[in-house]
Amino acid sequence: MCGIVGYIGKQKASAIILEGLKRLEYRGYDSAGIAIQQGGRFEVAKKAGRVEGLMKGTPALKITGTTGIGHTRWATHGGVTDANAHPHLSSDGRIALIHNGVIENYAGIKKFLLTKGYTFQSETDTEVLCNLIAYHYQKEPAAQGESRFLEAVRKTLRHVDGTYGIAVMCGDCPAEIVSARKGSPLILGVGDGELMLASDVAAIISRTQNVVYLKDGEVLHMTAQNFSISTLDSEDVSPVVDKITWKIEDSELNGHAHFMEKEIFEQPAALENTMRGRFSEDGSTAQFGGLNISAVDLRQTDRLHFLACGSAWHACLVTEHLIERFARVPVEVDYASEFRYRNMPLGNSTLFFTVSQSGETIDTLAAMREARRKGYKVLAINNVVGSSIAREADGGIYQHVGPEIGVASTKAFTSQLLVGALLALYLGRMRDMNFSDGVEYVQALKGVPDLVRRTLELAPAIKEIAKRYAHYHDFLFLGRLSLFPVALEGALKLKEISYIHAEGYPAAEMKHGPIALISEQCPSVFFVPSGEMFNKVVSSMQEIKARKGKIIAIATAHCELPAGLADEVIRIPECHEAVLPIVATVPVQLLSYYIAVELKRDVDKPRNLAKSVTVE
Ligand code: M6R
Repeated sequence: MCGIVGYIGKQKASAIILEGLKRLEYRGYDSAGIAIQQGGRFEVAKKAGRVEGLMKGTPALKITGTTGIGHTRWATHGGVTDANAHPHLSSDGRIALIHNGVIENYAGIKKFLLTKGYTFQSETDTEVLCNLIAYHYQKEPAAQGESRFLEAVRKTLRHVDGTYGIAVMCGDCPAEIVSARKGSPLILGVGDGELMLASDVAAIISRTQNVVYLKDGEVLHMTAQNFSISTLDSEDVSPVVDKITWKIEDSELNGHAHFMEKEIFEQPAALENTMRGRFSEDGSTAQFGGLNISAVDLRQTDRLHFLACGSAWHACLVTEHLIERFARVPVEVDYASEFRYRNMPLGNSTLFFTVSQSGETIDTLAAMREARRKGYKVLAINNVVGSSIAREADGGIYQHVGPEIGVASTKAFTSQLLVGALLALYLGRMRDMNFSDGVEYVQALKGVPDLVRRTLELAPAIKEIAKRYAHYHDFLFLGRLSLFPVALEGALKLKEISYIHAEGYPAAEMKHGPIALISEQCPSVFFVPSGEMFNKVVSSMQEIKARKGKIIAIATAHCELPAGLADEVIRIPECHEAVLPIVATVPVQLLSYYIAVELKRDVDKPRNLAKSVTVE
């Protein structure tokens, strides 16, 4: 939510910041703005709408100056207007600020500032923060040797409740940026004679691979020559410089129409990367480098508890099915946002997992903190290396699928399913799963990239189906057992990028209510596996057909469907139970994508959404 970019160096800051904002736009795209230091004052350009609009419709790019900050907004307090766009200036014009997060006690602070003569141009909590810094700056001289500007930011932050990632400039300090975080990510890029600040690495990788991940409670002071990090209580922090492994090409379209399309087609390679090095030498089980829990402790764990949001929550539901089936360990799955406020009894030997592509989702981070506060170990399954969740977890598993930029999760989701399948194998082999079943399972997982490649070949046929179905307003997605969460995922994909109403249900549950929706106007997408569930699913399909509902069947190769039952059949390869959810996901990704394209939706930046949800 919201993208932040800052630059100090020798180059023209506006060009670099706008380029960074374009790369961060998937974090929020309601409005965009920049502020550049210009001889003791600020040149500001900001506008509701996309970064593109800011570049075209204003002279933003013409602004010279080598120190500046920029922002893409996902609105929380205040509507999508030019006035509410960031950067905000204090009413005395001295301070410029951009912010990602929510200041919860802004109303009381605003009241106080009004009594001191500060005025407000916007409805945002951010402008309150900006004026409070200006207030502390003009009121209190700094201790000897301290920057007065830096100290004013620290003092302000000691008075605010809520979350923030901020970058601040002061008109009196021409080449300085002060930045701080609590609950919203910030990364410093250390380049050759220049420093960059951003909410994530996508904005930085074109200039440097050396980064410092700021931690909650830390304050960064950047000057043209150097940077230093301290706490809110002015204690020095020694920075750790890490190297980013992602390449600039990873965050470019490379000939694809949308990032979502690119990321769908990247899945064979992404899955290959997720499983690289994760099989034991004897080929019968999985292995993980960073779990930080001994096999003995893991063996004694009698319950696993998974916490996640959105697509990652769907991935956890599949993982629950696989772990219970193959390892016989009971699994609980919670929405991270609910877990935090529930008061459920938890066992003593429960191990927690959080699953999050970004590793920054605030609900998941907060749920993880709550579980750790209660004394539980929490392991994290994440894609983004160095993310807040990854750093605070007791151990974890990285997905290694490269940057996912399309707002709709695709390759990160299937990779989470793969990590879940690897975990089920690992835990299963510690318990009752024998050697040969382990070997068979490993072989099945190794075959996943190829199965996905073959399924992707269905794209042209699915595109044609999408054209025939794009005009419907309601869809049901129906599946059983491990394919029920895939039905949920299919419905989520369709609604988030095409704005078509869709619901996912267990196929048999459909007759307990949702069947009332069925008519010629509401198609159903059925997942049809061969094996024990086949006849049951076919019965559910018959019930739909009897009510004139159209049916799109995603059926495995050996299923012999009664003639005329399905209006459309998408044939996916037969495969092992542990990999079927991965393979079955691909057609619904393609179907949703092509329907959204047919409807001319903004596929990578659907309305009201943002890639990483860092507000509660
Ligand atoms: O970064 P995370 O995996 O924690 O994100 C969780 C959800 O916000 C995310 O999966 C969301 O539901 C996607 N838009 C789904 O496509």
